[in-house]
Amino acid sequence: MDIGKRFDTVANRYDTPDKEERSRIFVNSILQHLPDTSDFKVMDIGAGTGTVDMILSDHVREIVAFDLSQGMLDVFRQKIERSGKNNIRIYKKDIFSEDFPEKDFDLVITSMTFHHLKDPVSALNRLKGYLKKGGYIAIIDLYREDGSFHSDNTDVFHFGFDREEVKNWLKETSLEEVYYGIIHTLQKEREGQKKDYPIFLIIAIKN
Ligand SMILES: C[S@@+](CC[C@H](N)C(=O)[O-])C[C@H]1O[C@@H](n2cnc3c(N)ncnc32)[C@H](O)[C@@H]1O
Repeated sequence: MDIGKRFDTVANRYDTPDKEERSRIFVNSILQHLPDTSDFKVMDIGAGTGTVDMILSDHVREIVAFDLSQGMLDVFRQKIERSGKNNIRIYKKDIFSEDFPEKDFDLVITSMTFHHLKDPVSALNRLKGYLKKGGYIAIIDLYREDGSFHSDNTDVFHFGFDREEVKNWLKETSLEEVYYGIIHTLQKEREGQKKDYPIFLIIAIKN
């Protein structure tokens, strides 16, 4: 089963109050470290059910969102329709193997998706091509974990990322760091105990 089909199977139960809360924290953290975003055109990779975009869309001009899972995008589309928002476009497309004609984005975001990508450096290089000069990329993902975050590690290529790896991504892609920090900690019950999973945000600029 490919990753898109795997997420199809969880799409209808993906949205939870926890995801809503963490998405608010993610958006606030991104906005806190950027200049005025009200005229920004944003690309979201691995947008899923739009947990982040439904919040971020109130703070930017437009969001163009991509995901491989039709099920996740169906849930996202229903949320867009219910809200009456008209500044989000969604596409079922693998931006890493197919081209997309618009290349003038002010900001590329990706949340909880990079650990599902085989080669983060080549992914980042590809995403850099969609940014205008002076544009930003914001990546939110798991800090290095012991492999217990997902109950099934199929399609999980990385057990999070440590600070050095993330620094190296920017070196390899000639992006300049604007901000790095741990912005949130997720908790899961593992072997009868609560376990912490820190989440990092890195923001970089294309000079
Ligand atoms: C854990 S979900 C994150 C969803 C959302 N960004 C959030 O923060 O809640 C990861 C999403 O990435 C998508 N995904 C994985 N690889 C992808 C790729 N190469 N291109 C687009 N989407 C991808 C999956 O289908 C899934 O919906």
